[in-house]
Amino acid sequence: MSQHLTIVNHPLVQHKLSLMREIETPTAVFRQLLRELTQLLAYEITREMPMTTKPIETPMEMMEAPTLAGRKLALVSILRAGNGMLDGVLELIPLARVGFVGLYRDEETLQPVQYYFKVPDRLDERLVIAVDPMLATGNSSVAAIDLLKGAGATNIRFLCLLAAPEGVARMKQAHPDVQIVTAALDRGLNDKGYIMPGLGDAGDRMFGTK
Ligand code: URA
Repeated sequence: MSQHLTIVNHPLVQHKLSLMREIETPTAVFRQLLRELTQLLAYEITREMPMTTKPIETPMEMMEAPTLAGRKLALVSILRAGNGMLDGVLELIPLARVGFVGLYRDEETLQPVQYYFKVPDRLDERLVIAVDPMLATGNSSVAAIDLLKGAGATNIRFLCLLAAPEGVARMKQAHPDVQIVTAALDRGLNDKGYIMPGLGDAGDRMFGTK
């Protein structure tokens, strides 16, 4: 894919996203919508996966049938909100390998610090899709991509629900090779780093915490 940012304007994506934004949407419905929306976004982000063919027999005759080529893709959740996007992608691509990156923000330096990192082997041979619903400041996303590249990944895409212009710019400056796919590009961040109009704290809304 060539574009740095892809906004998926499909009517179903936009409708489901509006339902997710609404403050009255209950946790269970939010989670279900997140799963559905992630599937639609995953369809888009995998559009240019490499293909090959293999000979198969239909009830009528032999044919050269198109199939996916290469190693199984690696899906990497940026904890904790990324976990809410795993099921949707895995329903579409059940054979994907799954990794996790955990980062917290050091309150003194304000820099992201790694507390967990477990990813599939041979990242250099896989398409790596990092998932996190909110691309806000971009600090943790950029740090997560730094770690994935450090582990060998060279073909990385970033899947989110909502992006802020600040986060997109930060990712573009740090990782211009990483394509971002999102359902919407919102107005910007508030002074606490939340996306406006956004949908609030994605982790709290999907897990029912406060
Ligand atoms: N993380 C969230 O969950 N929501 C935001 O608006 C920004 C970051």
